[in-house]
Amino acid sequence: MVKNSHDSYGYVSKSLHWLMALMVVALFSVGAYMVTLDYYSPWYKTLPFYHKSTGVVVAALLLLRVLWRLANLQPQPLPTHTRWEKALARVAHALIYVLLCGIVVSGYLISTADGRAISVFDWFSIPAAGELFLDQARIAGAIHEYLAYGLMTLVGVHALGALKHHFIDKDKTLKRML
Ligand code: HEM
Repeated sequence: MVKNSHDSYGYVSKSLHWLMALMVVALFSVGAYMVTLDYYSPWYKTLPFYHKSTGVVVAALLLLRVLWRLANLQPQPLPTHTRWEKALARVAHALIYVLLCGIVVSGYLISTADGRAISVFDWFSIPAAGELFLDQARIAGAIHEYLAYGLMTLVGVHALGALKHHFIDKDKTLKRML
C-alpha cells in the first residue's frame, strides 16, 4: 500500500523514515569526525563536501516528508498505548521535525556565511545569502552542533521506545513501520 491507512504506514512513509534515519545518522557521524581533521588530512575538503551535499538531500526529503504527512492519514496509536506513551510519542515526533529543520537552517547559515554557494554533489548549487548577522558562522556552528547532539539523544530515546513496544509489550508499533 502506497499511502498510510488508519492502522499502518504506507511504502512512501516507511521508505522516507528509514532512508532519512540512515542519512541522518551518517550525517551526524561524518559531521562529528570531520571537525577533528586538520588541513593536511586528505579528507579535510571532501568530507565537508559530502556532508553538505547529503544535508541538502535530507532537507529536500524532509520537505517531501512533511508534505506527504500533511496529505495523508496518520496511523492511530494502538489501543494498548497508554496516555503518557501517546503524549510522549507526539511530542518526540514533533520535536524531531523541529530539530531537523533547525539543523538544516543552521547548516545553511554556516556554509554560506562567507558568500560561497553550496555545491550539491557537483550537480547544482544552492546560492548563498551571505552574512546576515555578525559572527554568523560561529553562532550557527554552535547551534548546529547542540541541535545535532539533541537530535541524536532524542532519536536514541525514540528507538528505545520502539524496541520496548516490540520486545516487551510485543505489540505491532515497530512492525507497522517496517
Ligand atoms: C535518525 C533516526 C530517526 C528519525 C529522524 C526518526 C523519525 C521519526 C518520526 C518523525 C516519526 C513520526 C512518524 C513520521 O513522521 O514518519 C517516526 C516514527 C516511528 N519511528 Fe522513527 N526515526 C528514527 C529512527 C528510528 C529507529 C532506529 C526506530 C526503531 C528502532 C524507529 C522506529 C519508529 C516507529 C516504530 C515509528 C512509528 C511510531 C508510531 O506508530 O507512532 N525510528 N520516526
